[in-house]
Amino acid sequence: MLIAFDGPSAAGKGTLARGIAQHLGYHFLDTGALYRMVGLQMIRTQTDLNDATKIAAFARDLNVDDFENHELRSEVVGSAASKVAVIPEVRSALLKFQRDFAKRLPGAVLDGRDIGTVICPEADVKFYITASVSTRAARRFKELCGVGVDTTLEAVTDDIIARDTRDERLNLPARSSKDVIVIDNSELGVEEALAEVLGFVKAKTAKP
Ligand code: DC
Repeated sequence: MLIAFDGPSAAGKGTLARGIAQHLGYHFLDTGALYRMVGLQMIRTQTDLNDATKIAAFARDLNVDDFENHELRSEVVGSAASKVAVIPEVRSALLKFQRDFAKRLPGAVLDGRDIGTVICPEADVKFYITASVSTRAARRFKELCGVGVDTTLEAVTDDIIARDTRDERLNLPARSSKDVIVIDNSELGVEEALAEVLGFVKAKTAKP
């Protein structure tokens, strides 16, 4: 059983994907963290962004200890992640990791940008989670304030717009898959959105 969540940054897809995985007892993979790990490694080693061979080597040999590293969540690392994500060798190096993870039993939930289209087009259920820029910014702002980050709503909004622009350059077909379920998460609370997603999963996987 494989469930794919795609959508722009800070739309809430991570919260939903993690929540559904927990509810169903499935494995969860935040694929953005993989790109962030490569970006972090590039920063640490002061590798030039043009050195695609070296950066792809980081992707082939992920430092799994970094999975829980708080540094991954920083804007600097997020920005580095979106830069390394355009390197084709990085994308193909991470493809195998993601596809292997997707085979885990009894099921897997992956969240990212191209899960339902490129990584696992055979996924049983595919979601595209979106929300307005203002909702995404307000949520991210609250989250950052909650962990003591000193920032402003304007700065967070600018970051989200900049991230969307960079992500557009990836040219990923996240939404074009015809069997994708699009959920606009702008007006929904977490519990409501989780219930909606779970309803779709149950409907899609119900035995006739
Ligand atoms: O979701 P995130 O902010 O953690 O993702 C970090 C970057 O990685 C983002 O700029 C897009 C990129 N990414 C990607 O190209 N493909 C994915 N499956 C997940 C993330």
